[in-house]
Parts: sequence; structure tokens; C-alpha cells
Amino acid sequence: MAETGTSRWTRRKLVKVSLAAAAAAALPGPLRAAEADAGFPMRVNGPDSLRAHAAARGLLFGSAVNPALLDVEGLEAGNTIDAYTQLIAGQANIVVAEDAMKWAALRPTPLAFDFAPADRLMRFAALAQQRVRGHNLCWHQALPAWFNTVVTRENARRLLVEHIQTVAGRYRGQIHSWDVVNEAVEPMDGRPDGLRKTPWLEMVGPDYIELAFQTAAVADPGAKLTYNDYDIELDTLEQSMKRGQVLMLLRRLKARGVPIQAVGVQSHLKADGPEPGAGLLTFLREAGKIGLEVYITEMDVNTCRLEGGPIVQDAAVARVYRDYLGMVLAEPNVPVALTWGITSAHSWLNQSKEPWVRRADGARQRPLPFDDDLRPTPAFGSIRSAIDAARPAVQAAPTSAPTPAIDPGSLYQPFSVPGSPTVPPPAPAAPTGPS
Ligand code: XIL
Repeated sequence: MAETGTSRWTRRKLVKVSLAAAAAAALPGPLRAAEADAGFPMRVNGPDSLRAHAAARGLLFGSAVNPALLDVEGLEAGNTIDAYTQLIAGQANIVVAEDAMKWAALRPTPLAFDFAPADRLMRFAALAQQRVRGHNLCWHQALPAWFNTVVTRENARRLLVEHIQTVAGRYRGQIHSWDVVNEAVEPMDGRPDGLRKTPWLEMVGPDYIELAFQTAAVADPGAKLTYNDYDIELDTLEQSMKRGQVLMLLRRLKARGVPIQAVGVQSHLKADGPEPGAGLLTFLREAGKIGLEVYITEMDVNTCRLEGGPIVQDAAVARVYRDYLGMVLAEPNVPVALTWGITSAHSWLNQSKEPWVRRADGARQRPLPFDDDLRPTPAFGSIRSAIDAARPAVQAAPTSAPTPAIDPGSLYQPFSVPGSPTVPPPAPAAPTGPS
């Protein structure tokens, strides 16, 4: 069994590293300037960052990243003025490549690998002293253009194994957790085992999942091997069915001794949808009973069906983060949460033209803790509150009081989040002696 993230990175070390990076990221750059200029009382850097609050509680918090946007050279030289780079360095103690480690990015031709963007992310994370999630080794999407003409029943097994050996092998020892198989369950495809009909299933057979995990375990024995899926959060009929089939898959894999240590719950939520509840909580606990950790791998909150301007959107998004992270992070086997992007400037929800992301009023979505101008949204405060409430601080972040619960409705104007260093920590309870 692989070590846990927190045992390999002792909590003390996590706190130390986070504080060092947070201090390095307490920058007089555009981010800080923007914060001051806008007159926001909310402090988000250094000890007030999501990173510092998470690390103080032994949690990993972070975001999906596009390595092409990172000023790695500047970070290395210690003189970056790039606000996005500073934001990721300052707010995350774990990152994941949004696209750079997918087949389509890594495999320009059947024989060649292009590791440049993925290597760039690894270099950034090493400089910023962050853990890295690998995403992903086997998926039915983001396959290269040559896939359909080159891959056959005869060579599919070999190609899958060689891909995993090469990619997971390259980053051996450097990855916190690998999404070994992504989105392999789809009840609507009608198979009794719940598996999605994908090229891998059709060309390798249903044991492709087991094969992928076995291969990854040899290639990188230190990484937590993860099964990752979406639409398993809610108590709707469809999502309850899918969640049940994912759990069945996980139990089958465990019963067969397949090396799997975690399940990723993507958590692409909708602001106008029902909130996740008892079904997900049961799932987290059932996963725990078979020895699995659970990671929140891709959280964002879609407001495409929510009427109203940015104030209404922000309050709804913040409420979903508060309720959702408040629920899941309180579970002891949920030590990791990532959002899918960190600013709405780069969110996939603002890039796609799909009807399930486009708002009728044409407005941009604000699904993440920072907005298009890299200013904190009310969701920032909700995330930090949820982190603070999740478990006791191992070591309190210096100068920063825990963030009290926030009513998202009160957050937008004035833009004020309690819990900044100006708010004194609660007085210690008076000692109660025997009466
Ligand atoms: C998305 C990326 O965000 C986009 O940039 C890309 O065009 C498509 O894929 N589930 C996943 C992620 O596991 O890999 C997806 O990422 C979002 C849904």
C-alpha cells in the first residue's frame, strides 16, 4: 500500500513548506496591488492564502493549471511579476495539468512523445514546492487524431501498457496521485457491469481498467492510484445509479487485489441544481471502508441556468462551495481538494460554446475562487471557511485567525471576509476546574 500524502510529507513539513512558499508569494506584484487598489479588505496572500490554511490542517488544496501560462523562468530567477504565476504559487500546495498530461498532448505521433508542457508543470511545482496530481493515463476523450486509424484490437493492449509505462515511469516518485482511469462508468450504455462503451473497452476488453492500474503500480509505486469520475455527487436518480455503479467497480477492483488507493470525485457542480447530500456522504464512507481515500479533483460551479447578475451568481457559487466542501472535507478520508482552474479568466466553462455552459444573457461565468481580473470572489471566502472548519489546525497559520462561517449573501459589497488578521481570534475558554 502506498504511503499517504500526509505521511510522506509530514504535516510539520507541509506547514513549513507552505509557509515558506506563502512568504515567497507575499509579493508586491500586481496581485497585491490589485487587492489594495480595489480597496478589498479581504486578504488572500501568505498566511491568509488557501494554501496556508490547507497546509495548517494537513490538507492539500490546489487547482488545475495550464503550464503554458506559467512564468517558470521568472519564478526560477526569483523575479516573476506574472500575476497568474504568483496566484498559483501562492494559493496551491497541489496542482494538476488541465490538459498537458492527456494522450492528445503527449502523443503527437504514434511513436513520439512530447513532454515539454508536462515537464514545465513539474518544474514549476518543484520550484513552488507543490505536490502534483497526474491526469490522466487512460480516458476515452483527448485521444490524438491518429488514434482511430492506428489503434486496433491487436495492438491496443500493448499501446496502453507502453503509454502508462512511459508516462508514469518518467515522473516516478514525483506524483502525489495518478488518475489512472478517467470516466469509465456510464449506466446509460446499458452494460450490466456499468462500464462505458469506450475504444479501450472495445479493443482491450473490460479488463483494461485492471491492466491500467497494474501497469501504473509498477511504473510509479509511490503514487496513489486513482479512479476519477463525474456526475456522482447528487441524489438524483441518474447520479445515484452512476455512483452505485462506480462503487461496485471499486469493490470489484479491490476484491481482485487491484492496486487502487483512491477515488476522485470531479465535482463539477451547478449553482441551480440540487445540492449533494446523503448519497455522496454514504459513498465517501463506503469508499473509506474498502481502504480508499477520496479526492475532490475538479471542482467548479456552473451558473449557466442561474438568472441574475454577478452578485447573485457569486452568492450562489459561494454557497455551493461552502456547503459542499464543508460536508466532504469533514470526512477523514478526504484529504485533497482541487478546483478546475483558479480564475474565471481561464475556466473551461468560459471557453466552451456548449449549451450546458453558455448563459442566456451572454455573461461570463464566475465559477472559481478568483475572477477574470484575479480578484478573490466570495467563493474564496467559502473555500477558506470550509478548510478551516474541516479539521483542527495542526499548527495555526501565524497572524491569521480561523475564518468564521460566512453568509455568502453578505459577501459581495462591501467585499469583506471575516478572519483577516485584523479580526482578533476568539478568547480562550476559561479553565473549568472541579466544582
Ligand atoms: C477539460 C479541459 O478543462 C478542457 O481544457 C479540455 O478542452 C477538455 O477537457 N473532466 C475531466 C477533465 O476529467 O479532463 C476535463 O477537462 C473536464 C471534465
